[in-house]
Amino acid sequence: MSDSDLVAHGSGPQALADAVKQHHVIILVDVLRASSTIITALGNGASQIIPVPTVEEARERIYHYPDGFLAGERAAHPPAGFDYGNSPRSFLTDRIQGRPIILTTSNFTRTLGKPPESATILVGAFLNIDHVANTALHLSSKQGQPISVISAGSMQGIAAEDDFTSYQIMIRLRDPDGPPGYADVGDLARELLVTRHGSLLVQAGYEEDIHFCAQPNRYKITPILHKGGFIPYPSSD
Ligand code: MLT
Repeated sequence: MSDSDLVAHGSGPQALADAVKQHHVIILVDVLRASSTIITALGNGASQIIPVPTVEEARERIYHYPDGFLAGERAAHPPAGFDYGNSPRSFLTDRIQGRPIILTTSNFTRTLGKPPESATILVGAFLNIDHVANTALHLSSKQGQPISVISAGSMQGIAAEDDFTSYQIMIRLRDPDGPPGYADVGDLARELLVTRHGSLLVQAGYEEDIHFCAQPNRYKITPILHKGGFIPYPSSD
């Protein structure tokens, strides 16, 4: 495999399905905000994050997890009766330690769908940019497969903030020991704020979330999909 074949990029559910079919090691990116939420919740001790595509399915699944929490958003806000929305900052709490979280969001969980159990799907964002790149490189060499960085995108198609983040992750993948692709950490929040989804979140009152999501390497953790739930990739493996 030449270096240029090692890392591919795509956007949306079809790109994800193609990468799954080709057995790639996949990094799924929804920087605003689902990827950042999953990383933060696992980083603060949640036992697993179970992604489901619809609000109805989330409400049904919670009955199988009596100690679980319901989380997610529609139009940026928590659906009625949910314990949490999709603000990563709301998971900065001990209350979630050891507890599963059922998560449904407009784009991330819809793009993810229900992939086969054999798929290798990691979650990436700025919060874990170096850790996810290193984990993907490790799994890629272990499995002898290339890496696909997939932007979750939006209902309307491409999401600029996801593509920007995906390219930053690709820079780490191509040169893990080199300098990052951004000059100044402050630039990251500005880059996310000017996107369509960034401005929607500002209007909805979640500007602080964007600053939170723009922190590189806050967590040394990589979520991996295992038996239908995201758990931290075991660092000893
Ligand atoms: C999504 O999956 O659509 C996003 O994470 C939406 C959001 O900002 O909460």
